[in-house]
Amino acid sequence: MKVTEVKHPLIQHKLGLMREAEISTKRFRELASEVAALLTYEATADFETETVTIEGWNGPIQVNKIKGKKVTVVPILRAGLGMMDGVLEHIPSAKVSVVGIYRDEETLEPVPYFEKLVSNIDERIAMVVDPMLATGGSMIATLDLLKKRGCKHIKVLVLVAAPEGIKALEEAHPDIEMYTASVDECLNDKGYILPGLGDAGDKIFGTK
Ligand code: PRP
Ligand code: URA
Repeated sequence: MKVTEVKHPLIQHKLGLMREAEISTKRFRELASEVAALLTYEATADFETETVTIEGWNGPIQVNKIKGKKVTVVPILRAGLGMMDGVLEHIPSAKVSVVGIYRDEETLEPVPYFEKLVSNIDERIAMVVDPMLATGGSMIATLDLLKKRGCKHIKVLVLVAAPEGIKALEEAHPDIEMYTASVDECLNDKGYILPGLGDAGDKIFGTK
């Protein structure tokens, strides 16, 4: 599995702001989307382009356009919705496939509860978004599901990843690429990432 920790100063700065304990819902939500947009820029750097001829203001000219496969953004409910608009900012024509999975707070096991995927998902690059990769259970279950539906080309974007989650994801899905703003230190005994962001879903939705 290819893991890219994106060290761009804008990403590091914005992620630092997100770690502030007293951050407002509004600010956390804005920053989640901004960092997602910057991760998207990085994650799409290998998209192939092709030369096409168009009618320019002074006659025909050659320009580059993105070639081939189209994208589906896959937010993992709930918290993944907080990154969706950031991805769509750069890929506005992407279709959205939604997967609902929550983590049982006692067992930390992923519990799937919703799935609405685009019909031709097997022909698309899936960009899966979730702010937190903790034990990796939710992401692994999502990728299991996407592959079962025929998905072959998957990129994962997370704001913060724990080493434990990366290891588990690597074992389960060695063929995918992951982009993150930070590989943090570890999980605590409740499965929260340290230093982490706290409960990302609650912070994005203003619950709790
Ligand atoms: C959080 C987070 C991930 C998951 C990560 O979601 O957004 O989906 O936990 O943990 P894992 O790697 O150990 O599976 P949560 O279950 O809190 O649901 P929410 O998005 O509805 O808040
Ligand atoms: N889910 C979160 O929202 N935060 C964590 O640190 C771990 C799982």
